[in-house]
Amino acid sequence: MALKTNPAAAAATSPRLSRKAEQFTESVIREMTRLAIQHSAINLSQGFPDFPAPAEVKRAAQQAIEADVNQYAITWGAKAFRDAIAAKYSRTQEMDIDPEREITVCCGATEAMISSMMAIVNPGDEVVVFEPFYENYGPDAILSGATPRFVKLHPPDWRFDPDELAAAFGPATKAIILNTPNNPTGKVFTRGELETIRDLCVQWDAFSISDEIYEHLLYDGAKHVSIATLDGMRERSITISALSKTYTVTGWRVGWAIAPPEVTAAIRKVHDFLTVGAAAPLQAAGAVALQLPESYYETLACDYAVRRERMLGILEAAGFRCFKPNGAYYIMTDISAFGFPDDVTFAKYLVKDIGIAAVPGSSFYREAGDGRAHLRFAFCKKEATFQAAAERFAGLRGR
Ligand SMILES: Cc1ncc(COP(=O)(O)O)c(C=O)c1O
Repeated sequence: MALKTNPAAAAATSPRLSRKAEQFTESVIREMTRLAIQHSAINLSQGFPDFPAPAEVKRAAQQAIEADVNQYAITWGAKAFRDAIAAKYSRTQEMDIDPEREITVCCGATEAMISSMMAIVNPGDEVVVFEPFYENYGPDAILSGATPRFVKLHPPDWRFDPDELAAAFGPATKAIILNTPNNPTGKVFTRGELETIRDLCVQWDAFSISDEIYEHLLYDGAKHVSIATLDGMRERSITISALSKTYTVTGWRVGWAIAPPEVTAAIRKVHDFLTVGAAAPLQAAGAVALQLPESYYETLACDYAVRRERMLGILEAAGFRCFKPNGAYYIMTDISAFGFPDDVTFAKYLVKDIGIAAVPGSSFYREAGDGRAHLRFAFCKKEATFQAAAERFAGLRGR
């Protein structure tokens, strides 16, 4: 996990540096990618695909650069792109969004999240975070000055206990961070679960900040519900997504935050002074991507379902106990059977001796011990990568 256990001590050691920056480590996920390169390992750690982006989307970016869409876009997003975002949410979520006042285009979902948090959080505010969580949310809380209140998602189906959730809410709660479909667990929050969350948000006058970057990666008939569409939530929801995962362009760094006008005005100010704006030609290409037909999303989900089965088969044959995901493109595993002292030791052994990089479960928890029995594998990979991984895992069985 990216938070240091003793922030006070960490801050005291180096007054020349920011007390905030001293409270968290570098990203474990990105560190695993570096280790993978160093050891020529197959990288099943960081969540980026190793197959091509759609040809028409790439072509649109090339054409935009050629047409000299090469200067700053409007800080909160090029009009054509915002219009395309609003049209897509109207089509897929039946959400009525004003592209002039309710959308901020950011540099990825990553910047949308930190800009949103900085736009609403004041000192003393608490933010409820489900755990295990996408590791950015810990540092996001610190950087924005929020105090995180963690609520466990319990394996094997990663449900939360409504009483535990209710206990985390109170007068200091500013927001809950939600991520559905979920990284790292693959959980897709049901409408009933979202209604429980909604009731608490309404009761305590809290926002939901909902990271829905895997909204199109769904399996076994799972349905994505945006919490903003529930009664009483539209005015208290910030909905975040991005081009990154849906269109296989994680390196483009284009995402967005959708929020009511007053909230959007604050997000736009933070965003403007953090980054000015996302890449203009890639926003132009994004407008093309968002207009792809429904069949694109159907094929995407079907292809990922095949990859999920492939990865499950490889991991189970290698001796991992897998938590089958309903969404996103990761598989959380239980590594207890391998007899390693903890997840980090096992992950280092895997990357150095077997040649496969995965993410230690502890990087998704506040307390490292809570994730010690888990490793996360990404399956956004092409067949040749699966084949090579299967061959290398043979070394694990023969150990
Ligand atoms: C839940 C979640 N949110 C956000 C991101 C990053 O999104 P982006 O690349 O659009 O900044 C990731 C990437 O893995 C993610 O898993």
